[in-house]
Amino acid sequence: MSNNHNGSETPYINCKNVVRAYTVGDHEIVALRGIDFTMKRGEMVAIVGPSGAGKSSLLNLLGGLDTPTAGRLSVGDVNLIDLKGQKLAEYRLRQVGFVWQQVNRNLLPHRSALRNVMLPMMLAGIGWRKRRRRAKELLEAVGMAGHTHKRPSQLSGGQQQRVAIAVALANDPQVLLADEPTGALDRSSAVQVLELIANLRERYGLTILMVTHDMEMASYADRTLTLRDGALGQDLTHSAQEAPPTLDGEGRIQLPLAVRSQLDEATRIAVEIRPEGVLLRPERADVDNTDAVLQDILPHKNHNGRGRLFRRRNGKSAKEVQHER
Ligand SMILES: Nc1ncnc2c1ncn2[C@@H]1O[C@H](COP(=O)(O)OP(=O)(O)OP(=O)(O)O)[C@@H](O)[C@H]1O
Ligand SMILES: [Mg+2]
Repeated sequence: MSNNHNGSETPYINCKNVVRAYTVGDHEIVALRGIDFTMKRGEMVAIVGPSGAGKSSLLNLLGGLDTPTAGRLSVGDVNLIDLKGQKLAEYRLRQVGFVWQQVNRNLLPHRSALRNVMLPMMLAGIGWRKRRRRAKELLEAVGMAGHTHKRPSQLSGGQQQRVAIAVALANDPQVLLADEPTGALDRSSAVQVLELIANLRERYGLTILMVTHDMEMASYADRTLTLRDGALGQDLTHSAQEAPPTLDGEGRIQLPLAVRSQLDEATRIAVEIRPEGVLLRPERADVDNTDAVLQDILPHKNHNGRGRLFRRRNGKSAKEVQHER
């Protein structure tokens, strides 16, 4: 499926039929099953999807931390499939910046904020004076000018992520890859970090791909891709022509046309609450997919299908149902 945002422009990020399979012992885990998408330069895209969907695997490929098993992958004029040795190291150091959820992956604990930001520039061979100046500028840009000499443990979670963003931008990369950058933060810090990211995107012309579990965080992006079992789902573009749907006091929602067309044929629509949001699953009269739905909801239970789905609908949880047996 193509999720090209704007077919008329040459894409900046081009991901074509990308497969990533991991071999564990004598079996294979296919984390990405032929991913197809493009991004324009300067675009911000959010990826949402349940745990194990392949989100981090995709980010690792784009960051040059890993190589696809098959497919084509390029960022700007860099073909990531062929990149090796020094060229690959340069790509990682200069063209992409990473922000992870875990602070110990972003920052070295024994270095101050300033020296953390200076480190990638040192690796890139930039002189002391220049890297100190730029590190100070960056810390100011992320609102951390007053904390330059503090170590990560002396900062709050939100402040640590601000410093992590400054580190990611140290060598002036074109692309920012963020893997649940606000996953460990409370809501107000998360919003502040996202606002900062949106701000820096304008200021530095960044192309941003961000993984999140949170639809509110995803709404900062130009569009949202859903990843599920290693495959991309519908492109949930926040389009200018169609305002995002709102929920009325009665719990009614007017769905966008593209979504309605997916549900048109359905005789019933199952509603599931997922970590990444609420899923509407069309169910057609001629296909009984009750078992498949249950398999998804109760992956580890040996259930007998239908009966339980109906009990869930009567407002009882799976646990309560099990109790009754
Ligand atoms: N290095 C690895 N070796 C083997 N299997 C892996 C490896 N990395 C990821 N996987 C598997 O690939 C699948 C996708 O993992 P990935 O980490 O990309 O998911 P994710 O969407 O980032 O999940 P989460 O939301 O939990 O971070 C999972 O089944 C995972 O167990
Ligand atoms: Mg992950």
